[in-house]
Amino acid sequence: MITPLPMVPTIDAALAAHIVLALFAFGFVLPLGGSLGYCHPRGTKDKRWFYAHASLQLLGGLAGLGCWISTVVHVNNVGSPNFSNSHEILGMAVIVGVLLQLINGICRPHLPEGAGTEPSPQRKAWYGLHRVLAFFVLICGATNLLLGPGVLDSYLGGATYFQIAGLEYNRVVVSSM
Ligand code: HEM
Ligand code: HEM
Repeated sequence: MITPLPMVPTIDAALAAHIVLALFAFGFVLPLGGSLGYCHPRGTKDKRWFYAHASLQLLGGLAGLGCWISTVVHVNNVGSPNFSNSHEILGMAVIVGVLLQLINGICRPHLPEGAGTEPSPQRKAWYGLHRVLAFFVLICGATNLLLGPGVLDSYLGGATYFQIAGLEYNRVVVSSM
């Protein structure tokens, strides 16, 4: 008698992209660019740190948006419920935070003419908001990276990664023979 293969949800390309982009954006690029923001040399005209910070954060922000778009595609493909656990709710808040931070970064008010002047009130407000959003995005992004594997386990219904690899091998390689 042939035992039917268990129905195990697969890790489709969209979910794989979600995981890879999440690790790249929130585990690597954004913390790297953020640390440049914290450690940059003050009181010098050298702007290299700024170009590196802005480029890294734009790249990380785009990867973060890709991470969100790919999970929306995945959830639509498999029909899982939206925002059904803390990873999904916190993840959405982090993505909104990244978007606001990118808009905030680009809209930075310029310093008044003349070196050594006090920052304007608009500039102080910008800096305060940039710091708060940066803290939220970096800390909650890292927290969500830790919550992700738990959601993946329950999505896979307790199947081991070995079983999934075997089923994927059957689906892709054996069925194409
Ligand atoms: C900071 C990084 C991450 C963010 C911002 C994020 C964001 C999200 C969001 C917003 C959703 C909900 C989609 C919806 O309901 O429409 C989601 C779902 C999901 N995420 Fe993440 N995620 C991140 C990292 C990860 C990691 C590292 C993993 C796995 C190792 C992961 C695995 C999943 C899974 C399995 C789902 C549910 C898919 C389903 O229910 O079908 N995520 N994520
Ligand atoms: C998700 C995106 C971003 C994150 C997480 C982020 C994070 C940070 C952090 C942690 C700091 C240091 C704050 C402190 O001193 O306590 C900082 C400073 C700064 N960021 Fe960003 N940033 C982002 C995007 C951007 C963008 C797109 C721009 C400009 C195009 C920008 C421009 C700046 C500038 C000019 C400072 C220095 C402010 C000062 O010391 O006066 N940031 N950022």
